[in-house]
Amino acid sequence: MKAFNKIVIANWKMHLDVNEAKKQARSMRRTLAKARLPKNRQVVICPDFLAISEVAKILKGSRIILGAQDGYFLEPGSHTGEIAMSHLKKMGCKVVIIGHSERRADGETDKMVNKKILAALDNDLTPILCVGETFDERKEGRQDSIILHQVYEALQNVKLKKGQRIMIAYEPVWVIGSGQAIDPNEVVHISSIIKQSVIDSFDGKYTSQVDIIYGGSVNPVNINQFTELKDTKGTLVCGSTLDYKTFIELVKNS
Ligand code: PGA
Repeated sequence: MKAFNKIVIANWKMHLDVNEAKKQARSMRRTLAKARLPKNRQVVICPDFLAISEVAKILKGSRIILGAQDGYFLEPGSHTGEIAMSHLKKMGCKVVIIGHSERRADGETDKMVNKKILAALDNDLTPILCVGETFDERKEGRQDSIILHQVYEALQNVKLKKGQRIMIAYEPVWVIGSGQAIDPNEVVHISSIIKQSVIDSFDGKYTSQVDIIYGGSVNPVNINQFTELKDTKGTLVCGSTLDYKTFIELVKNS
């Protein structure tokens, strides 16, 4: 994926069925074609696996990038119910969300997250690594060490080839879907922690190939508070991308 200035990534989670996802993708394509967004402003849509092939057809030739919400770390083979990174790539995906807190809550470990990052990069997909603390961890004042740890573990043995990128999404778990985004100053602070962890993990290499984004109750009114931050390249959003009018507003205001 090419370098960009600002990005809005829509994670539709398990909300839209195939027909709803198709309808939403068509509307987004039509409206964004007319919206004349600056060239370096990117929009990504991550539908569920069932909708990916249909949405891929709709987005083909448009400026909207297709992404997946997860991908498996092993090569194609006997792994019932899983989806190979290489198959996502063949379907037209350019990015893949990895380690979302909802998956971590269901048992995804740092080790699996790390393997998925490696598998995504092997297939030239840009990983969107999600990190974030729970409410209890924040109450105990452990957010900084949690983020450092999650980034460090996820980036073990990772090497970026020329032209490859990785995005790290800071998503405080307790803020996701709450309707109340976090104070942008807190995002500035955590971004500096993420940057440090990236430097530690990569021995100071690849820093220009890593983009930090924010996710958690972003809406058309608050989005520019996050996209304006010096170290934050964009947002990962669910709720405000499920209705197409709000989604368009979100992109325009980013
Ligand atoms: P939200 O979800 O925008 O609905 O808070 C964000 C996310 O989980 O990535």
